[in-house]
Amino acid sequence: MQDYKNTYEESLSNNDAFWLEKAQQRLTWMRPPSVALQGGFKDLDFTWFADGQLNASVQCLDRHLAAQGEKTAIIWAKDEPGEYEHISYNDLHARVCRMANLLQSQGVERGDRVCLYLPMVPELAVAMLACARIGAIHSIVFAGFSAAALRDRIVDAQCALVITADEGLRGGKRVPLKEITDAAVEQCPCVETVLVVKRSGAKVAMKPGRDRWIAPLLSAAPARFEPVCMNAEDPLFILYTSGSTGQPKGVQHSTAGYMLYAGFTHEMVFDLRPDDVYFCAADIGWVTGHTYIIYGPLANGATTVMFESTPLYPNASRYWQVVEDLKVSSFYTAPTAIRAIACEGDAPVLAHDRSSLRVLGTVGEPISPEVWQWYHDCVGEGRCSVVDTWWQTETGGILISPLPGVTPTKAGSATLPLFGIEPLLVDDEGMELPGEASGNLCLARSWPGQARTIYGDHERFAKTYFGRFPGRYFTGDGCRRDADGYYWITGRVDDVINVSGHRLGTAEVEAILIAHPGVAEAAVVGCPHAIKGTGIYVYIQCADGFGDELEKALCACVRKAIGGIAVPDTIQRVPGLPKTRSGKIMRRILRQVAQGNYTDLGDVSTLADPSVVSAIIAGHAGQK
Ligand code: WT7
Repeated sequence: MQDYKNTYEESLSNNDAFWLEKAQQRLTWMRPPSVALQGGFKDLDFTWFADGQLNASVQCLDRHLAAQGEKTAIIWAKDEPGEYEHISYNDLHARVCRMANLLQSQGVERGDRVCLYLPMVPELAVAMLACARIGAIHSIVFAGFSAAALRDRIVDAQCALVITADEGLRGGKRVPLKEITDAAVEQCPCVETVLVVKRSGAKVAMKPGRDRWIAPLLSAAPARFEPVCMNAEDPLFILYTSGSTGQPKGVQHSTAGYMLYAGFTHEMVFDLRPDDVYFCAADIGWVTGHTYIIYGPLANGATTVMFESTPLYPNASRYWQVVEDLKVSSFYTAPTAIRAIACEGDAPVLAHDRSSLRVLGTVGEPISPEVWQWYHDCVGEGRCSVVDTWWQTETGGILISPLPGVTPTKAGSATLPLFGIEPLLVDDEGMELPGEASGNLCLARSWPGQARTIYGDHERFAKTYFGRFPGRYFTGDGCRRDADGYYWITGRVDDVINVSGHRLGTAEVEAILIAHPGVAEAAVVGCPHAIKGTGIYVYIQCADGFGDELEKALCACVRKAIGGIAVPDTIQRVPGLPKTRSGKIMRRILRQVAQGNYTDLGDVSTLADPSVVSAIIAGHAGQK
């Protein structure tokens, strides 16, 4: 622990030297950098290692081939239990080169955006790395998003090429990805080509001149492709995420800084050892999958598992079955999945041999001390390290987390910052809160993995993250620091909710509801939910003449506009929303009532019509 403290102090006081040394040691450069951080939070022009040149796919592939080309890079755990496919570094390298040649032959060039709308199949990893090899920017859209959501993301990034599959297979169910892609691309004039991976073998429509099956093209493509020499700051990918206002934003990450941070944190937080089998159960459609299924583990030459299924298919033993089958050493998932499994008791866990496990990670939302303890005691047999890792799409990698065997843990706390990371708590006026305190979680300085901008909208980047507390990066999270300096993330303090570890803007859902003719007004807040962590609670003021079918219709609208993850858990009709005299909805009151808290509503004297509050409370109480 003293070592951690010393290195931490050193990483802050000698920040440039610390990161420059890491960058020189850990990355394979075509031209090594001579500088670390330039610019900063004042002008929002920060760059890392800006004069260096490299290629991200070389970090993940080429440099491992000589010493461990036959080592397994990816184990694909297919949807059906017991079905695995091992892909060596040599194989992966060849497949990526073929894909890079194919993309190039389809006109993809350096700097172009490529949309990947794929299930958890090896082609997704291959396509990511092929984009990186060419210098194209991938934009992965989670395969649970709807056609409308996919369309918006394709149009925003102006992608000319989309890769999808005939169908996704997940938990024994089929997801009609090609059909969804067709509906989306119909409205995307920018798309010229759709490449289709055959997964289920379902019969799908192929539009001549636009759609092509990918397999024959790949086998015809050469298995060598010279990696393009990229600048350190060239974008590697964009990934859309929700905020408190407007449409999802394309968070843009750099090549060198991101790659360094992904590899460095993956090795440190999971205490990576040469023969480890590392299993992150996230989907690559989210940032956890980008950083901790693909880029981090492959940069480290590790063996990483790609899991196509769900935690409950065919039963609650599934994860532990994979752990036993593959002798997994590190396992990483979200609290929502742990809660869903814990619900079924200890037996499904105990049914499988977990003696290979050493580190258990959690990410995505606060984990309660009870669930943390169950993860530690039952899953980890009380002998594994539990790492509660706090980070965000925008941070590129983990910022606050224990280090296995180093940091003494406390159930429910993400504990302490990693090297080079300087968290800061501020009150609502931006005053720094030292010592033991609760406040808004900010970062005082940049780190290499930090997002550089929002694609196409640097002003929005500035406003979203640096507008409220100038000179600091504001995370949107509330946080408590205890007397030992440990951080306890309490959840979002903005209008973002975290549903099953997925980030949703309440404004996004409201916009869809209000568009329905049956809805006069709508407000969306989070409410406690046993499995999801946060559920989606909707208040609507109904237009006249809409009957019982309205709620169902609204759920269908949300599913269509965003996807299943955004469908409301509860819709309550109210005679009016609590608004101030200036017309602002008092969400605080709606949040409290949705939690079943009727007494502690704070000051309601500024409401235009205080009587709506009692009606809302009566309506909420009546639902139970
Ligand atoms: C938000 C970021 C980072 C990968 C997955 C989510 C919440 C994340 C934790 C944690 C408490 C957490 C925060 C954060 N969050 N990790 N260990 N403890 N809360 O990425 O979709 O960008 O969401 O997830 O609220 O702001 P994301």
